[in-house]
Amino acid sequence: MNPFYLIPHTPDPYFCDRKRDTDDIIRFLDNGANVTLISPRRYGKTGLIYHVFDKLSERKKAPELFYVDIYATGSVDEFLAVFAESIAKVLKKESLVKSFLKFLGSIRPVISQDPFTSEPKFSFTFQTDAERRYSLKALLDYLEKRPGKVIVAIDEFQQIRNYEGMSMEALLRTYIQPLTNVQFIFSGSRKHVMADMFTSEKSPFYESAALYTLDKIDRDVYAGFITDQFKKQKKSITTEAVDYILDWTRCHTFYTQSLCNRVFSAVKAEAGLVDVLMGADAILRENHDAFLERRSLLTPRQWKFLIAVAKEGEVSEPTGAAFLQKYGLGAPSTVSRLLASLVEKELLMETKTLVGNDYCVYNVFLSRWLERLK
Ligand SMILES: Nc1ncnc2c1ncn2[C@@H]1O[C@H](COP(=O)(O)OP(=O)(O)O)[C@@H](O)[C@H]1O
Ligand SMILES: [Mg+2]
Repeated sequence: MNPFYLIPHTPDPYFCDRKRDTDDIIRFLDNGANVTLISPRRYGKTGLIYHVFDKLSERKKAPELFYVDIYATGSVDEFLAVFAESIAKVLKKESLVKSFLKFLGSIRPVISQDPFTSEPKFSFTFQTDAERRYSLKALLDYLEKRPGKVIVAIDEFQQIRNYEGMSMEALLRTYIQPLTNVQFIFSGSRKHVMADMFTSEKSPFYESAALYTLDKIDRDVYAGFITDQFKKQKKSITTEAVDYILDWTRCHTFYTQSLCNRVFSAVKAEAGLVDVLMGADAILRENHDAFLERRSLLTPRQWKFLIAVAKEGEVSEPTGAAFLQKYGLGAPSTVSRLLASLVEKELLMETKTLVGNDYCVYNVFLSRWLERLK
């Protein structure tokens, strides 16, 4: 079997580190706090939530755990449907689902079965905002009245800012505040949006949760993990190969896992540098068309700028003369807008440093692909 998982819910022996993060989050929850979990995409927030849930469910008096992914939702109605589905999924037993539906009262959702996963699919048809408010309150009241403690993780929480119409943020805050039996993990990758929601005095969620930033996995720990995983499956990998993997994927969890997975599957006994180079090439080749596609979504100047950042790896003065001249990128005044739009599109990742901001291409494989372009 391949020990390098590519899905967020990774079983314990194949889950790398995150011990302190897991402990910290559990401690916050044990002390009654809600937690806001923030990191760039694909660092491992969702994986960590599942990991925390696994740990909590091992307890004698385990809380009831609900995971709600709102990434694909675009409206309050969809939010409510996804929320209700997540609850129904955990309840499973028909009698429980029935009592849950009773709670929703007169505004019954239409329930169908997902043909692929056979999980229940909900859809609501609301006539008025009052009905939406009522349903949200009913869902939360239901959880509040569960016999045991309840923890709800709402993943990609920043999404609620994109809903039109009523302010989901204000409403959720109002209904969540009085709950005593339900705690929340709010997770999101849009740092600016998430930070604004929880640290801006004007925002409804101001100071309502402990802010937790998830960093990359420690490089040495990751190196040890990779070596061990090969060993446990009766294969091996050279130190040189491990170092190259971690450099090339910048220790960015998803990319590191992907390359490890690839290299592991390609070798029979020992993985060396050549195997890693071949694995990396294969990944870029497979992504070629998808990456070219990105180009059509950008202006020529944006594309040129992206290539320049990729070639540098990391840029700390993107409006500095040295960088702009080296790549013929034009005047500093026009670059600020370009920069902002590439960050907004999540093509560039902006990292705050003590002295300013650093920029790199967000998708590590795209970055590696761009840096090879002429
Ligand atoms: N601690 C970990 N150990 C091993 N693999 C992990 C770990 N955390 C995340 N991953 C892998 O990285 C991928 C991306 O992580 P994910 O949790 O989806 O990131 P995020 O939610 O921050 O976007 C996952 O699909 C999983 O394969
Ligand atoms: Mg996630």
